[in-house]
Amino acid sequence: MGVLPHALVLPYPAQGHVIPLMELSHCLVDRGFRITFVNTEFNHDRVVAALQIDSTMEQINLVSVPDGLDQEEDRNDLGRLTEGLMKTMPLCLEELIRKSSEAGDRITCMIVDESMAWALEIAKKMGLRPAAFWPASAQLLATLLRIPELTSKGVIDAEATRQEMFQLGPGMPPMNTAHFAWNCIGDRRTQRTVFNYILDNNRAIEIAEFVICNSFKEIEEPVFASAPRILPVGPLLTGLRPGRPAGHFWPEDTTCMSWLDEQPPSSVIYVSFGSFTIFDRRQFQELALGLEATGRPFLWVVRPDLTAASDDAYPPGFETRVAGRGRMVAWSPQHRVLAHPSVGCFLSHCGWNSTVEGISNGVLFLCWPYFADQFLNQSFICDVWKVGLRLMADENGIVKQERIESKVEELLRDEEMRSKALLLKDIAHRNISRGGSSSQNLQAFVDAMKT
Ligand code: UDX
Repeated sequence: MGVLPHALVLPYPAQGHVIPLMELSHCLVDRGFRITFVNTEFNHDRVVAALQIDSTMEQINLVSVPDGLDQEEDRNDLGRLTEGLMKTMPLCLEELIRKSSEAGDRITCMIVDESMAWALEIAKKMGLRPAAFWPASAQLLATLLRIPELTSKGVIDAEATRQEMFQLGPGMPPMNTAHFAWNCIGDRRTQRTVFNYILDNNRAIEIAEFVICNSFKEIEEPVFASAPRILPVGPLLTGLRPGRPAGHFWPEDTTCMSWLDEQPPSSVIYVSFGSFTIFDRRQFQELALGLEATGRPFLWVVRPDLTAASDDAYPPGFETRVAGRGRMVAWSPQHRVLAHPSVGCFLSHCGWNSTVEGISNGVLFLCWPYFADQFLNQSFICDVWKVGLRLMADENGIVKQERIESKVEELLRDEEMRSKALLLKDIAHRNISRGGSSSQNLQAFVDAMKT
């Protein structure tokens, strides 16, 4: 009898990376794999604490390794995090793989987040089949893989600080170099550390036999045509099946589902800004007043750390005035929320996971990007797929309540946009149904990893 396929899955330690890799893990379990899912100790504790009681874990073994930082250090300091990971993780991973073998439970392949591609060197050294997963748009990955060329063309300068618009290729939305992740963070030293880390991962990804991503052919056709090595297997939507661990860092507040049941079809504004957007008090209050002004039902994810002092951040009397019509939760079961028929539009920061989840459910977007690739995703939504509108700030950098109210109305009145959104939903689902393009890609990947 052959060895059962057993994959070590390694996400970058951030929520927007852990969730899609957990989704992929479920897809692999459905196809006969066992999974060793490696979080950092810090995130592992959060994931375990947030698990639903009835979650079934049989084929997914959650394990952890240290991230090299002290317990109280700031994990949003990407420079420190990068240094910490590289200092401790490689040896810990090797040990984990060795111990698994010694225990007669051999790991046969390694599927790493592209942002952890350095780990593929370990896969190579220890004889595991190597593959990489990319959790953002294929266009962003194709761009990062072309950094040397973009540098020689002068689009990215040697110090990686130049800021200008450029187009990677025909049919692709233009990008602003100011929105490269390294340009959005910290001081020069941190930027340099992160930039070099990306270059190192770009080199290591050469080892991967497969580079798969959570996208599908029709939404990024020009990129897949020009970068055939990047294989779309999305949309990954296994979270729709209840009772499966989703890798959340916060416990889901599922009470909002019965509240959604009581709302009219396509009426609810779902408001969520992903896992690390932070609002200042003034903008937070303006958003609250904007939602109130719409007069519509809304479900708003107010993470405990969405503002510096969320306890008393709501405008005076807000909670009483919107009681019944507005629902605030600390963390939602977003996959299920977006699939609910009463959700009419999605006020979103346009993280890639949220973007794919939204289009797969045919919702309309009101775009409010905050960081890095979210601006590119906004361009996809508004300019390429045409299923959403931009929410622009005024001359003082504030998105005013009147703007929120009027854009929601404009969006919900747009029947043409709604038809496009429903068409896109259909295309998304065809991709993952039997014989669909993403489904075939996933099968090719699975077959290779099994041998
Ligand atoms: C980030 C980047 O923004 C994104 O572009 C990149 O590709 C990955 O990392 P994040 O900002 O957290 O992630 O947003 P997003 O990509 O949308 O991921 C958030 C995830 O959390 C989604 O899967 C979403 O369904 C989930 N979520 C969010 C919940 O389950 N409940 C919530 O209340 C909010």
